[in-house]
Amino acid sequence: MWSSRIAFIAAATGSAVGLGNIWRFPYITSENGGGAFVLIYLACIALVGLPIMFAEIVIGRRGRMSPINSIRELTTASGASHKWAIIGVMGIVAGFMILSFYSVVAGWTLHYAFHYFQELIGTGASITDPGATFNSLLGNVGELTFWHGLFMVMTMGVVGLGVEKGLERAVSVLMPVLLILLLILLGYGMNTGYFHEAVGFLFKPDWSQVSGSMFVTALGQAFFTLSLGMCAIMTYGAYLPSDVNIPRVGVTVAGADTFVAIVAGLAIFPIIIANNIDPGSGGAGLIFTSLPLAFAEMPFGIFYGMIFFILLSVAAWTSSISLMEPATAYIVEATNLSRKVAALLVAGLGWLLGLASVFSFNLWSEVKIAGKSPMDAIDYVATQIMLPVGGLLIALFAGWVLSSRITREELGEKMPAWAYEAWLWLTRVVTPLLILVVLGGILNLF
Ligand code: PHE
Repeated sequence: MWSSRIAFIAAATGSAVGLGNIWRFPYITSENGGGAFVLIYLACIALVGLPIMFAEIVIGRRGRMSPINSIRELTTASGASHKWAIIGVMGIVAGFMILSFYSVVAGWTLHYAFHYFQELIGTGASITDPGATFNSLLGNVGELTFWHGLFMVMTMGVVGLGVEKGLERAVSVLMPVLLILLLILLGYGMNTGYFHEAVGFLFKPDWSQVSGSMFVTALGQAFFTLSLGMCAIMTYGAYLPSDVNIPRVGVTVAGADTFVAIVAGLAIFPIIIANNIDPGSGGAGLIFTSLPLAFAEMPFGIFYGMIFFILLSVAAWTSSISLMEPATAYIVEATNLSRKVAALLVAGLGWLLGLASVFSFNLWSEVKIAGKSPMDAIDYVATQIMLPVGGLLIALFAGWVLSSRITREELGEKMPAWAYEAWLWLTRVVTPLLILVVLGGILNLF
């Protein structure tokens, strides 16, 4: 059981805030042309993310077990089919797939932290051409594999040993520091003279650019960044004390996550524009090729860069723990393996699958799956398809299968009547329809 409301908020925010906000959000916003995409993304957070966030916490807290068994328990209580437990199975698979490439990108972050450390103590060269530095990292299979492996071991350590307590305490200090660093970077961005352009790029919609795939990407990002659709938040909800107000913590977590993404965007895009980089140029390397330009110029930039990438690694760490947790918890429940062995198994397999992402940039750079690199293909299937499908089923389950007596107790008594009605109808009808329309778009049904 979490010791308090704050402990849950720290853990859930730790899960939500990560590479999704600071690496993925800027780069896919860039690839999707800014403004219109950001607004669609924010709409997805409000209309799809928030209702599902509430639903996952309610299911977790009522079930009080790992997702598959929580759902099974709740179906028994409401006389529904046990097949709903497929939500948990899919979540485990999606989490595992995301973990595989997440760890590779977190490895880049660790590498950059180490790079700045070496530069600081005078044993490393400075980054003069960030694009070239990044590309040479991508070409170095050994280096990529090492940092990916190190990050996986770090994640496994926490999940296997269950040292969440210490981590929880560390996180509640380090995450605010990361936010302060982002705000300082934002201040730097404001002084570049290109802040206005950046705001325009991020928030001025060019509706002529809107395409179907933009909706698919925005919806996927809403799930990814809030850690939804794969039962991570549900798992954390299982340890939430009964008297905590779910709507309030849900809004806090989603609000904090969205705030960090927007601040990250506002901090990064002025730097990009000021350095004559096309803000629409995108690419998974976006923050790694743009931020070093700022660190090279700022006072104490080397030190600052080191701390920034260390904290970003920590943010990624607290997210990857929640990616690994559902699969590990399930193996522990379903087999007689110990927690340590289960974590080792998940980490080992995740590391192996992650090699596909490592090789995407070098050995397998010619390999394309439906036009995408192996890493992009894994990301696409997990984030853009599996998370929304999981979310769809979670919404339907919470809206139609869970008795409204339960949701009324868990949510209705904690918020104004209109807000509860709004949640109920969003969850029952609006959210599922929105997800179906977007997924239908993938299949070219419309
Ligand atoms: N939300 C995390 C991030 O933004 C990633 C994540 C996705 C974590 C799904 C858990 C589950 O970085």
